[in-house]
Amino acid sequence: MTPYKLTVIICLCGCLVQVHPFDWTDLDPFNHIKSTEWYHKIKNLMSTTFNDKHQIPRGKGNYSVGCIDLMFDFSVKGSLLRLYYPSRDSEDDVHHNTVWIPSKEYFLGLSKFLGLHKLMGKFITHYFSSVTSPANWDAPLKNGEKYPLIIFSHGLGAFRTVYSALGIDLASHGFIVAAVEHRDESASATFYFEDELALQRNNKTWLPYKQLSSEMTEYAQRHQQVLQRAEECSKALNLILDINEGKAVENALNSSFNLQQLEDMIDENKIAIMGHSFGGATAIQSLSEDNRFRCAIALDAWMNPLSDELYSKVVQPIFFINSERFQTAENVMKMRQFYLGDKETKMITIKGSVHQNFPDFTFVTGKILGYIFSLKGNIDSDVAIGLTSKASLAFLQKHLDLQRNFDQWDPLIEEWG
Ligand SMILES: *[C@@H]1O[C@H](CO)[C@@H](O)[C@H](O)[C@H]1NC(C)=O
Ligand SMILES: *[C@@H]1O[C@H](CO)[C@@H](O)[C@H](O)[C@H]1NC(C)=O
Ligand SMILES: *[C@@H]1O[C@H](CO)[C@@H](O)[C@H](O)[C@H]1NC(C)=O
Repeated sequence: MTPYKLTVIICLCGCLVQVHPFDWTDLDPFNHIKSTEWYHKIKNLMSTTFNDKHQIPRGKGNYSVGCIDLMFDFSVKGSLLRLYYPSRDSEDDVHHNTVWIPSKEYFLGLSKFLGLHKLMGKFITHYFSSVTSPANWDAPLKNGEKYPLIIFSHGLGAFRTVYSALGIDLASHGFIVAAVEHRDESASATFYFEDELALQRNNKTWLPYKQLSSEMTEYAQRHQQVLQRAEECSKALNLILDINEGKAVENALNSSFNLQQLEDMIDENKIAIMGHSFGGATAIQSLSEDNRFRCAIALDAWMNPLSDELYSKVVQPIFFINSERFQTAENVMKMRQFYLGDKETKMITIKGSVHQNFPDFTFVTGKILGYIFSLKGNIDSDVAIGLTSKASLAFLQKHLDLQRNFDQWDPLIEEWG
């Protein structure tokens, strides 16, 4: 299981705590240990570790980017997603950057998923809760043209907000990107409102990451999850298209963004699906079930959750973008099965990249830690995400019939980066 885990930072400090156990209680980590010299030691260590903080890069395209969160319906059956979109620049109102990870439950879920000490979750929260993504929160949509749509599916232990570098870059090139948060218990954490009353009271029901059970095979459990994930992608698409068609849809989350702005702004014939790791498998599963998705981009896809029967069912083109270090021969063999038939499947490998080059973690940690914990590869993280985005745009132009200049990056689809 280890290679699929987000080996985030902190392990170093996790070891420190394990070697020198305290009577940790459920208090603020700094207050609790302030009187001890450990406080200074840990604080110094954390500062040198985290002060070398880098930022999530801005989109390289010509559009400004806005961001909102959307939740539809109550209970676990509804949808939660983060939308990145081309936004209108307006001088009179100020829009703030988007909070990268919006609740402490996500940090705690992440540290639990990684098997870290509870205290480390608090350190992560402390150091990363101020990180922002360079998108204007709640900014108005830029109108004047119809945008193609991408539904994005996250990896195991991740959640909707941690692929912002990629989401923002694609939106800056004129896409609407909907990052779904899955409720199959594969996210580090997610939440919903039980009903209207719970919403009014802001009483969130949190759904944590679920460990594999020993009663079923890993395949059986992950396969079940991938089916649910694909269903959630289609459900998110239904809702976005409902808004596009002018149906009254209410956002359960508090937002000043009027959803009517999205009416008639999406080109219903230009819809793609994209995902990372478990999300890559989800994207392929979705292709097989929902022919509104015209093509898929699978970033370092983890193929195990997919059934053997699926391979002959997919008729749309797939683009595999792999990291150099994650893929096994077995996984790549599975991808190659999609070359059969006449669909235009492509595969590239970004040299010097690692599995964690696709989510944002690669940007918010310093060089040394990033490298030690495989959040960064030999390739510069900005270059890696740039290549991923440009190759994706070239592929999308071809298969969604876009009239843009993304074909300038066609050579990337054919080569090693
Ligand atoms: C941005 O706009 C300029 C001028 O219109 C154009 O030359 C350039 O190619 C555009 N960049 C992208 C990434 O589309
Ligand atoms: C919040 O919701 C849960 C059920 O989802 C319920 O048991 C609990 O009493 C609620 N809390 C408040 C303060 O309403
Ligand atoms: C919703 O947001 C507005 C401002 O954006 C704020 O005044 C209001 O209190 C918020 N409502 C809730 C229930 O959080």
